[in-house]
Amino acid sequence: MAAQVHISIHPLVQHKLALLRDQRTDPKKFRELLREIAILVAYEATADLATEEVAVMTPLGRASGYRLRGQVGLVPVLRAGLGMVEGIWNMMPSAEVWHIGLLRDEQTLEPVGARLPRPYSRLPVSPTVDVCLILDPMLATGGSAVAAVDILKRWGARRIKFVGVIAASGGVQRLTTAHPDVPLYLAAVDERLNEAGLIVPGLGDAGDRLFGTG
Ligand code: PRP
Repeated sequence: MAAQVHISIHPLVQHKLALLRDQRTDPKKFRELLREIAILVAYEATADLATEEVAVMTPLGRASGYRLRGQVGLVPVLRAGLGMVEGIWNMMPSAEVWHIGLLRDEQTLEPVGARLPRPYSRLPVSPTVDVCLILDPMLATGGSAVAAVDILKRWGARRIKFVGVIAASGGVQRLTTAHPDVPLYLAAVDERLNEAGLIVPGLGDAGDRLFGTG
């Protein structure tokens, strides 16, 4: 596994991941677990964010501390990435949220949104953030993640991290080869994809389980 691939070994992440995978987990619980795992994985992904010193007055006197320096952009890939936004955003309320719409073609398994003349991406004309966290729970072939990074780089983003939950090893390989400068933060890497392009054992279709569709 490439050096920029970080797989959380935190017991809370692993505990919640097993529940997230479980087919008996209903959409309400699934949303809750995804939100919580996203916070925990993002906690690890943001360990190197820049800070600057500040002084505050407590009721008892002056204390020195730190505040975040620089602006963070949360970039969920529709649809399933939406399930990762709220929890992380609560941890970083000053973050901006920019959406990218990609949908995998069921035959080719390539993201069709990326091929549109103007992919659905709610990005301002030029970057307003110092670091972008791409949010998508599933990294299967890696096509969507590569396309999302391509879009952000064309936009001018210089610092990008991928924050996911489960990846297939082939998808990790594809993303790290295409974008070796983008670190990945994940909860697990699974072995393979089935014929339909779903990660095995994975957790099924994250978008469907999140939104109660399918
Ligand atoms: C899923 C998933 C990723 C993508 C991963 O989304 O959420 O975005 O597939 O596959 P890849 O690595 O092979 O590109 P999908 O396109 O099914 O859309 P959805 O989230 O709306 O269900």
